[in-house]
Amino acid sequence: MTQPLNAAMLGTGRIAELRLAPAIAKSRGIRLWSVLSRDPARAADFARRHGARAPEPAHVHLDQLLADPELDAVVVATPDRLHAAQALAAVEAGKHVLVEKPMVTSTEDGRALVDARDRHRVTVAVGYHLRWHAGHRRVERLVRDGALGHLRHLRAQWTWPASDTSNWRAQPAMGRWWSLAGVGTHCLDTIRWLAVPSCGEVVSVESVTSRSVWGGPHDETAVVVMAFESGATAEFCSSVQFGSPSRLEVYGSGGYVVADRTLTIDGEGSIRTHEGELPFKPTDPYLGEVEDFVGAIRDGRPPAVDAAEGLRNVEILESIS
Ligand SMILES: NC(=O)c1ccc[n+]([C@@H]2O[C@H](COP(=O)([O-])OP(=O)(O)OC[C@H]3O[C@@H](n4cnc5c(N)ncnc54)[C@H](OP(=O)(O)O)[C@@H]3O)[C@@H](O)[C@H]2O)c1
Repeated sequence: MTQPLNAAMLGTGRIAELRLAPAIAKSRGIRLWSVLSRDPARAADFARRHGARAPEPAHVHLDQLLADPELDAVVVATPDRLHAAQALAAVEAGKHVLVEKPMVTSTEDGRALVDARDRHRVTVAVGYHLRWHAGHRRVERLVRDGALGHLRHLRAQWTWPASDTSNWRAQPAMGRWWSLAGVGTHCLDTIRWLAVPSCGEVVSVESVTSRSVWGGPHDETAVVVMAFESGATAEFCSSVQFGSPSRLEVYGSGGYVVADRTLTIDGEGSIRTHEGELPFKPTDPYLGEVEDFVGAIRDGRPPAVDAAEGLRNVEILESIS
């Protein structure tokens, strides 16, 4: 049997703890090897609890972690503004990278990462787990098979009520966008995944943002409207100003899909089409994401969301003011 890939986790926060490390533990193709934290005790504790296999798994310096010849890949799960430098350093050290969304916080950094990936011939995948939601995969197949006819309009909404501005997403030092980076980028990716293959690229973007509750530098609500080459349209709303049940809607010339509470981290929710309920068995979307990353490396094929697609998402986020 092929040896599992050895992966390092950069960051020991919420998504690393709750979703990424457990998904790696479930996958037979990859294992946790080492961990980077700002705090040595936190790195050691995370490494111990998640079973990191390197002889000395805990690191506080990225260059030392990357110098390990037995390390194959890194998973970047740090605040958004750290992604570019950490992913680039990993690629330049010849490591494969699964970077959380948004891939980077500027198109300039995104282009640099795409170039470095091409030069070093490594895999760079971006963590849009909603593509691995079992129900969304059924929806994508319906769209691809033409069961909805020609796509005409897509709509997504994902919001949560933030309690204050103390988190890094609300601050320019570590974040660039707030609701847009937290959840809007997922709405955008899901819309692009479903629409671009049959509708062509996004050709225009219009938006309204609000900072009316906390008045900080970053978007609190964003309402974004887009048109595709085919003339199809889409809109999404992300917000930290209010809670709401998430919703994804897809309308075609021959039918529609409405997905309730599927835009989450847990793979659950319910979906109906013009023909009735669309059943699915919930699975761990992060396991799908991790296994796609492993498969891309092993098979030498692009991952489901590669660096070029991560860049396109950031280009659109950057065009929203
Ligand atoms: N795909 C998804 O479903 C999903 C969901 C949530 C988040 N994310 C993405 O994952 C990334 C991490 O988000 P998160 O929610 O896990 O954030 P988080 O809980 O704040 O964790 C981020 C971790 O990064 C490390 N870090 C390094 N420098 C930092 C700094 N200056 N300030 C704060 N933390 C720093 C920290 O680990 P140490 O303290 O050990 O250094 C921290 O625990 C983000 O890019 C986010 O967009 C994706």
